[in-house]
Parts: sequence; structure tokens; C-alpha cells
Amino acid sequence: MNIDSLKNEWEELNKEYAELESCNRRYIELLEQLHSHQQICFNEIKHQRYRMNQITASLRQSKGPIPAEDREKVDELQKMTLKRKAQLHEIEQSLPAKSGRYLQIILGDVNVSILNRNDKVRYKDDYEKFKLILNVIGLIMAFFNLIFNYRALELAFIFLLVWYYCTLTIRESILKVNGSRIKGWWRAHHFISTVAAGVLLVWPQGEHWQIFRMQFMYFNVYISIVQYLQFGYQKGLLYRLKALGERHNMDITIEGFHSWMWRGLSFLLPFLFIGYGFQAYNAWTLYKLANSPEAPWHVSVMAGLFLLLFVGNMATTLWVVPEKIRERAKERYRLQSMGKSMKLRQEMKNSASDLDLSSGSKLSPTTSTATATQTQTPAEKKEI
Ligand code: COA
Repeated sequence: MNIDSLKNEWEELNKEYAELESCNRRYIELLEQLHSHQQICFNEIKHQRYRMNQITASLRQSKGPIPAEDREKVDELQKMTLKRKAQLHEIEQSLPAKSGRYLQIILGDVNVSILNRNDKVRYKDDYEKFKLILNVIGLIMAFFNLIFNYRALELAFIFLLVWYYCTLTIRESILKVNGSRIKGWWRAHHFISTVAAGVLLVWPQGEHWQIFRMQFMYFNVYISIVQYLQFGYQKGLLYRLKALGERHNMDITIEGFHSWMWRGLSFLLPFLFIGYGFQAYNAWTLYKLANSPEAPWHVSVMAGLFLLLFVGNMATTLWVVPEKIRERAKERYRLQSMGKSMKLRQEMKNSASDLDLSSGSKLSPTTSTATATQTQTPAEKKEI
């Protein structure tokens, strides 16, 4: 053992540690700057919204008919307000947002904001894949339950439903914090489904359950197929969203997004309405079963829950289509802002990696070998 060479190595390690310390100091400075820049952005967004509201209120308060020469200017102002709202929403996507009460109860006070639009799209993609995998497993289990009547298999399937819907509520709350426009009803739908699956789990085996059992399994098979179609639709939209950040001509991509959406919707809607019809039929069957005197409480609760799901799903889906037609202009500005922000982030990432590459290639062969040697452990140095 040569103690002097070990001492030398320690000296070298000390120098490297000094570099690490200065890098860490720089990193902490940047974090501090990040925080103060975030605060400035929050204040500026507030200011923009305040002034925009003032302008809109003044426009609304102006009495009497608008003269023809001002009509065009008023329309222009209204268009610019819509556009600015979309731009501000997009800027907010790069800033941290507070978790809702539900997430705070489940996860504690932790920040779940994703600060990059491209990563948000990736997270959504992951959520859709999660739903797809669990649906395939659900479909197989429902199918086996149709063939075999084993209590353990049945309970395993219902337990999977409880866990699946519960997980969906958490993932959807995270999506919501990150700017998803998911309607409140779909989130409520998954909370209600968790409760329904919980009731099914404690529904004792007996005559009533055996009567409803087969119908319930057929319903699950159908729902799994519909959810597979929903996955195809959402995946198609996500693919086109990603293209927004990659193509040069954004107008073409926005047109592509809209025409895919309408085609996808008109294909999907009939299957959805049949599914809602099935939910109403479940509610009706259970209602009839609940009328017998020895029916357990689970029967009437499940009848009520299926009815609630039918009404909520039907009303929301019927409301979505006209809303999409009404808010066409708003949607266009939203997609434009989103596409620009994705493109900008991608360009920044590319130029950062170009910079890394060029600074790496500027090192002379001798220096780079020296740097490489310095960062090796003694064992690695021997290898060289
Ligand atoms: N579950 C989770 N997220 C949903 C959702 C649902 N059922 N429906 C819409 N979203 C999300 C969208 O992905 C979008 O997210 P984003 O803001 O992160 O991009 C947001 O909510 C806004 O979507 P919107 O524009 O209102 O609708 P859409 O075009 O994405 O989908 C439907 C419209 C009708 C196809 C869709 O709502 C749907 O599939 N509904 C049926 C659900 C159902 O009934 N399930 C039970 C089957 S019987």
C-alpha cells in the first residue's frame, strides 16, 4: 500500500469536491431565481386578468347600439381577449399549482405539478395506457366469471374494480392540478363507481345476487369493449396534440385535430349511448329485485347508483357535443397556444443539448482524456 499515492488521490478528489460544491451553489442560486421568477409570473398573470376584466366590463357597460365603424374594433377586442385568456392559461401550465383537498388528504402536502407541457402530455398518455391495461385484465376476469361461478374469482374481480376506480380518482386529480379540462362529472363518476364496487364487495351471496350476477358480468364485458374504443379516441387526440408541437404548419395540425375529433366522436357516441341504456336496464332490474321483502339493502343502493350513473353520463355526454360546437374559437386559441409552448420547449431542449455537445467537442483530445481520467475511480483508472 503506497500511502503517498492515496494522499495524492485524496487531493484530486478534494479538487473535484470543490467543483461539485460550486456547481451545487449555482444550482441553489438558480432555484432561488426560479422561485422569484415564478412569483413575478403569478403577479403579472393577475395583472393581465384584472385589466382584461376592466376592458370587458367597459365594453359591456357601453349603452346603445355600437356604431358601424366601431363594430369591427369591438369584435377584434373580443377575439384578442379570448386569445389572451388561452395564452395566460398556457403560461400557467409552466407554473406550480396547488393540489386540491382530496390529493392533500391522500398524498399529504406534496407538489404534483408538472411544469412542462410535453411532460403533461406524456403523463396523460400514461394514464390512458393504465386504463387500457386494467380494462383488458377486467375484460378477461369478467369473461371467466361468466364461465365459472366461483366466489373467490368473483371477489377478486370486484376488488380489482374498487382498486381501479380508486386509483383513477387519484390520477385524475393529478391531471386536474396540471390543467386538464376533465369535467367534474367524469371524476364524480369514478368516485361513485368506487362506492358501487365497494357495495358489490359486501353484497352477500344469495338469491338476489345470483339473479343479477350474469347481467352484471355481461355489462362489464360490454363496458370494457367501450372503454377500449374510448382509448382509441383519446389516443388519437393525444397523437395529434403531440404533432402540434412538431409540425411547422400549425393550422393544418389544428384542422387535423378537429376533423379526427368529430369523426372519432360520431363513431364512439352510439356505443356510449348503448352503454348508458345498459346502466338504465341494470337500475330497472335491481329496482324490481328490491321490491321483494327479503332483498338486502345492497340491491336498492345499487339500483340508485346505476340510475345516478345513467342520468349523469347521459346529461354530460349530451352537453359535451353542443359545447364543443359553441366553443370552437376558444378551442382553436387553446390549441394554438399549446402548440407554440410545446414547440418552444422542444427548441429550448434541443439548443441546450446542442450547447452541451459543442462544449464537449471543444475540449482537446488530451484535456478530455485528462477529465475522463480524473473522474475515474482508482480501479477504473487501472483499466485505462
Ligand atoms: N374520463 C376521463 N377524462 C375524460 C373523460 C372521461 N370519461 N372525458 C373527457 N376527458 C378529458 C379529456 O381527455 C380532456 O382532457 P385534457 O383537458 O387533459 O385534454 C378533457 O377531459 C376535456 O375533454 P372534452 O373535450 O370535454 O371531451 P373529449 O372530446 O376528450 O371526450 C367524450 C368526449 C364524450 C368522448 C368523453 O367524455 C367520453 O368518452 N365520455 C364517456 C365516458 C363514459 O360514459 N364512460 C362510461 C362508459 S358506459
